[in-house]
Amino acid sequence: MKKVLLTGGSSGIGLAICKLLTQKGYDVIGTARNPERHSELSFPLIKLDVTSEDSIQEAVQLISERWGGLDILINNAGIGFMGPVAYSKSEHIKKAWETNVFGLMQVTQEFLPLLQKSDSGKIINIGSIGGKMGLPYRGWYSAAKGSLEILGESLAMELKPFGIDVCTLLPGDVRTEIAASRLETKQEDLKEYEASYMRMKEVLQDEMDQAMPAEKVAVKLEKLLRRKRLPLKYSVGSFLHKLTPIIKNLTPQRFFQWLILRHYK
Ligand SMILES: NC(=O)c1ccc[n+]([C@@H]2O[C@H](COP(=O)([O-])OP(=O)(O)OC[C@H]3O[C@@H](n4cnc5c(N)ncnc54)[C@H](OP(=O)(O)O)[C@@H]3O)[C@@H](O)[C@H]2O)c1
Repeated sequence: MKKVLLTGGSSGIGLAICKLLTQKGYDVIGTARNPERHSELSFPLIKLDVTSEDSIQEAVQLISERWGGLDILINNAGIGFMGPVAYSKSEHIKKAWETNVFGLMQVTQEFLPLLQKSDSGKIINIGSIGGKMGLPYRGWYSAAKGSLEILGESLAMELKPFGIDVCTLLPGDVRTEIAASRLETKQEDLKEYEASYMRMKEVLQDEMDQAMPAEKVAVKLEKLLRRKRLPLKYSVGSFLHKLTPIIKNLTPQRFFQWLILRHYK
């Protein structure tokens, strides 16, 4: 039975993946910062804060004692972040990057020895289609998600000799509770951007209300795991979401920016 560790298994996409993989016969352990708050799940949830080195090492110790190795690491834990690039507070920027990039990479580094014991190790990082482009008021988040793709490309080549596949899974909008814990610039700090920022938030909320369910991401991921080799990158989302990066690459840069601004107007 393949052994899977997923960070951020308490809600949204992570919860849906843990449930589905458990149902499909994988041995799954999810993580959360406060696992005691989540009972009656079909899989075990252990404590892990990806921003704490001690917490990561405790989780590695626990998995090592329980399983002695690991087949699949899914780096899903993450937080949202919105605000103008120029007025975002450094404490928010640091927290978002510590969670979405540095924490994720530290989890990867610490679990690598266990993955190397597997004869078919796999790492799946949850990026975002939004990481393929700078969007207004989401620059810091998009940049963090975009950097995961580049790190994933390097890691995939470096881990090839160990037979470990690395895949960045790129969802479009997914209907989850991510907005509830999102870091955000205070309204009074938005200054001249206030009106356009509030308008964009409305558009985003409408899009989130109609976004795909987290279960759709879980189904795609489970299908990917059935392949002999993982793709380097895989997008999951609506036709428009998957088309947008292609339009970005094929059209003049200023025209693409005009399209994006028009979309949020
Ligand atoms: N929703 C979307 O539209 C969308 C689109 C593209 C990509 N994504 C990405 O998908 C992933 C999951 O997002 P979601 O939409 O499912 O959001 P969510 O429902 O808010 O889930 C986020 C998960 O991350 C965990 N988490 C947050 N900070 C953590 C930390 N410091 N240490 C450990 N765990 C932490 C949370 O667990 P606890 O709070 O219980 O610790 C929770 O389980 C994120 O990486 C997100 O960026 C989401």
